[in-house]
Amino acid sequence: MSIQQPADLTHAAMLGLGVHRPERLVTNDEICEVLDSDDEWIRTRSGIRTRRFAGEEETLVGMATSAAERALEAAGVRADQLGCVIVATSTHPEHTPASAALVADALGVKAAAFDVSAGCAGFCHALNLASSMVRSGAETHVMVIGVEQLSRFMDPTDRGTAFIFADGAGAVVVGPSDATGIGPTAWGSDGSQAHVITQTPSCLGGHGSPVVQMEGTAVFRWAPFAMAEVAHEALRLAGVAIDDLDAFIPHQANLRITQTLARNIKLPESVAVATDVVDSGNTSAASVPLAMEAMLRKGEAEVGDVALLIAFGAGLSYAGQVVALPPVA
Ligand SMILES: CC(C)(COP(=O)(O)OP(=O)(O)OC[C@H]1O[C@@H](n2cnc3c(N)ncnc32)[C@H](O)[C@@H]1OP(=O)(O)O)[C@@H](O)C(=O)NCCC(=O)NCCS
Repeated sequence: MSIQQPADLTHAAMLGLGVHRPERLVTNDEICEVLDSDDEWIRTRSGIRTRRFAGEEETLVGMATSAAERALEAAGVRADQLGCVIVATSTHPEHTPASAALVADALGVKAAAFDVSAGCAGFCHALNLASSMVRSGAETHVMVIGVEQLSRFMDPTDRGTAFIFADGAGAVVVGPSDATGIGPTAWGSDGSQAHVITQTPSCLGGHGSPVVQMEGTAVFRWAPFAMAEVAHEALRLAGVAIDDLDAFIPHQANLRITQTLARNIKLPESVAVATDVVDSGNTSAASVPLAMEAMLRKGEAEVGDVALLIAFGAGLSYAGQVVALPPVA
């Protein structure tokens, strides 16, 4: 007897993108009502001018579902075509059940559903899983969502984090395609630096939830250099030259990290660079899809453009791949 497996390999691509940007816009001045800092310092050190925090009515599952519905619309795919829902997040308030099962239920489907915990790199990890499933024929359509509600998990008086992190959601439908739309993923981790970004019960915030703590300078020393190697590896795996990129969309950690990384990889001037962190802050696992949407909406990149995604964060973990940008709702 032999065990049956799905038929031929196929190509996978992002078929549609949707986001949910929370309604409440929060300025640096508002942050500094509680934080001992000022607008000028925050702009200079991080590039951030505003960010969004979920309002009273907005939940993590609600934001994820809203982004997913828009991604389905952009892709022209029905919810009942989804075989799997993957949510990348570090801020689902419960250990179990996974937020993905609640999102699948809100979408009205009984698809396989699970969460991925890879910090700010979660979306690019989940994209690799989804792409692998579709290419292998295991599933035809997979929903990938990056969502965070970091405003619940911050100490508003912490000078190292309070001005950086923010809320939001971005989702893509991954499905079959005539050509490769998601290149091979360069990914890995360095657990020897796990202490650099943490969220542990030893440090509880106002909601009784563990708050994010970060050694900002250690992240700064690591990311722009280690991620340059990952960028080159993702390009090599995809067989794409850096000059052939249309867009560079790194995790929106901090504008200075983005700029230093772009310099380190010798990114040509012609390549558009995502700067959504200026408006949206650092939304961790949601930042890459939110930044894709911002570039498409503003006309800085177009559907079908070839983009390099690179995400990095807690773990320390990282993942990057070359992709074709999807249509957006
Ligand atoms: C957080 C970060 C902006 C801090 O900048 P930094 O230059 O490393 O700051 P330092 O902690 O060395 O402090 C430098 C000075 O600014 C002051 N400072 C620190 N935080 C401040 C704040 N929020 N507001 C005003 N002043 C602040 C310090 O007291 C220090 O003052 P001093 O020189 O008089 O002693 C920076 O480390 C960073 O961006 N790191 C990467 C973080 C990130 O993107 N993480 C994402 C992970 S996915």
